Amino acid sequence: MNHKIKSLSLAYDPAQGLRLLDQTLLPSQVSWVPISSPEHMIEAIQSLKVRGAPLIGISASLFLGHYSLSHTPSQTYQVYEDLKKARPTAVNLANNLNSCWQNYLTHNNDPQFLLQKAIELFYQDQELCFAMAKQGVSLLNSNESVLTYCNTGSLATAGIGTALGVIKQGFEQGLIKHVYASETRPLGQGARLTAYELSQLKIPHHVICDNMAATLMAEQLVTKIFVGADRITKKGEVANKIGTLNLAILAAHFKIPFYVVAPSTTFDFETSDDQKMVIEQRNQSEVLGIWNNSISTALNPAFDITPPTLITGIVTENLISTYPFWA
Ligand code: MRU
Repeated sequence: MNHKIKSLSLAYDPAQGLRLLDQTLLPSQVSWVPISSPEHMIEAIQSLKVRGAPLIGISASLFLGHYSLSHTPSQTYQVYEDLKKARPTAVNLANNLNSCWQNYLTHNNDPQFLLQKAIELFYQDQELCFAMAKQGVSLLNSNESVLTYCNTGSLATAGIGTALGVIKQGFEQGLIKHVYASETRPLGQGARLTAYELSQLKIPHHVICDNMAATLMAEQLVTKIFVGADRITKKGEVANKIGTLNLAILAAHFKIPFYVVAPSTTFDFETSDDQKMVIEQRNQSEVLGIWNNSISTALNPAFDITPPTLITGIVTENLISTYPFWA
């Protein structure tokens, strides 16, 4: 197996280890950081140097695989446990680490098998992205003007992305003429990261403040909405970046199709109906910092949950499901 890997946001080779494109500095600075220790990997995940449900799982798994080459099984086990807790909402992190760990155990703690599984997950995600895009493009008519939220592209996956993958392919096939990238406060993944990817691909777009979405919809400027997901339950509840629920409610009001695009690796059919998803609460400085406001306190939940009744369809690599989804 070829052990060298490179995507827009991640690079791995056995000599240099894992390197990540620091997403906190985009779009003004393109800077790669080597990840040298477990603490560093956890910091990169928590500070959102690396982010997006699929990419967090993939990068943590590659790090663990590389770490296991030069550490004992018990040291590796400790890091596996610590990494799983780095961010709580996206299911991919724990799922990917669990499947790498399982492969390691099945092969007598041979680290090559842990690394090999992590590399497989990277390539699998690239294929999943293409398959989702193929499904999603089938929903498009001509002259679409779509709105998207947060960043769900190559900065969030190993491939072309989930929701943004559909948009990229839709543009390439001449079906999408314009994209609205909603800013995504507080950390601006839409304004910074989606804008970066769209600019690189020369896809015509406007960045909008999150509170402009309703007006655009009222003026019939948005024909469809595509977003990603961090965790999807059996009931079809979708945890995604805070603000996704606002858009889903607006879309229902204005009768605009609202699609969630996510691979089956983002599904969590184990969380039972009465178990609550854990929503990450982040530091208030992310909300207050840009205003230099040191006189207030702020709330900062990182994700919200959109109920299935507000979702027109969930696009996966295999099919497009409509409500009641898998019930
Ligand atoms: O906090 P982030 O930037 O990791 O949040 C990312 C999102 O909410 C994405 O929409 C989701 O992970 C899907 S990415 C393909």
